[in-house]
Amino acid sequence: MFFRHIVSGMRNGVLAITRDARLALINDEAYRIFGVAPSPNDGGQPLASVLKDHPDVVRALTGVFDLHHMPARVELRLKPSGKVIGYTLALVRDDGGQVVGASMFFRDLTRVEQIEERERLRDRLAAVGEMAAMIAHEVKNPLAGIEVMAGLLKRKVADVPDAQATLSDIIKEAKMANAIVQEVLDFVRPIRLQVEHTTVREAVQGAIQLADTKARRGNIAITVNVPPGLPEIPADQHQLTQVFTNLLMNAYEAMHGEGHVIVSAERMHVDDGRDGHDEVQVIITDNGPGIPQDVADRVFEPFFTTKPKGSGLGLAIVRKIVDAHDGRLDLKSVPGEGTAIRVTLPVSGASEE
Ligand SMILES: Nc1ncnc2c1ncn2[C@@H]1O[C@H](COP(=O)(O)OP(=O)(O)O)[C@@H](O)[C@H]1O
Ligand SMILES: [Mg+2]
Repeated sequence: MFFRHIVSGMRNGVLAITRDARLALINDEAYRIFGVAPSPNDGGQPLASVLKDHPDVVRALTGVFDLHHMPARVELRLKPSGKVIGYTLALVRDDGGQVVGASMFFRDLTRVEQIEERERLRDRLAAVGEMAAMIAHEVKNPLAGIEVMAGLLKRKVADVPDAQATLSDIIKEAKMANAIVQEVLDFVRPIRLQVEHTTVREAVQGAIQLADTKARRGNIAITVNVPPGLPEIPADQHQLTQVFTNLLMNAYEAMHGEGHVIVSAERMHVDDGRDGHDEVQVIITDNGPGIPQDVADRVFEPFFTTKPKGSGLGLAIVRKIVDAHDGRLDLKSVPGEGTAIRVTLPVSGASEE
């Protein structure tokens, strides 16, 4: 009886059959992995009927009587669930050495597999990132060349208005391509923070100026509600400015020159069950068209854009930087009313402890 309890509580699946392929033993984990409901009558039943959804398993176990040597360890994907098990087989002999049955000892490898798959994906992404960085870097020089040469040519044909207009377009397009390439570089480059004691106020002010040089604001009014008394945070000033710049640019681009943007910030105390800790929250609100739910689910994905000439990297970069600061991002949007994006940053980050 003691022995049975050991087997039934084991964290591995155990299955045993008699020589006539009837079930002799099955434990809880095996039921769980196979997705079969336990029944007290299972013992003595043909294995093929207890595991009728798993013919591969039945074949593997009953086939063991015909094998001359046992395979070391085998993996099998269970068809109904897609779960992967790793198993070993053994013959069961009586005291006289006669084969009286067979056993299977197995483990659910699905989680292990998922972790491996994630690692493979990470490696692949790293490789793609390196390649993107290389291409972007190579493309930057010729683009700069095009811009410069178009500028030279423009001076040479100063008296041909048609050519002037065309050359201006070429320069504009080259500048735009360059901005996209720069974004790709920002996105794929591994992030290194130069952490200093920074205020959100400085980053927001820097961002408002920077955004004006990169996007058309038109008549959009901007209200800044960032109290001077907010605590300093350990952050990379330059990258934090980039975060708010990207958010402001998106707001401007969404509103097409008319509307209102509010940047507000406040300190929050978070009760974490111990001493608690402080955070600074910055919310950028616009009264633009808003984001429909299906779009909102994807806006932080790299290369997701709804703009004909967008790179789709603005928010991916925002996310990358905020993650590196151990911060959080939330998006709230009501189509037709506007969008609010909240950036929450720890006042004493992991980088300081
Ligand atoms: N404030 C906003 N209002 C409406 N839509 C927005 C806003 N911010 C982001 N979006 C949506 O999210 C998408 C992704 O933004 P982003 O990553 O910055 O890339 P891009 O600006 O190049 O399109 C945008 O194309 C847009 O559809
Ligand atoms: Mg953007």
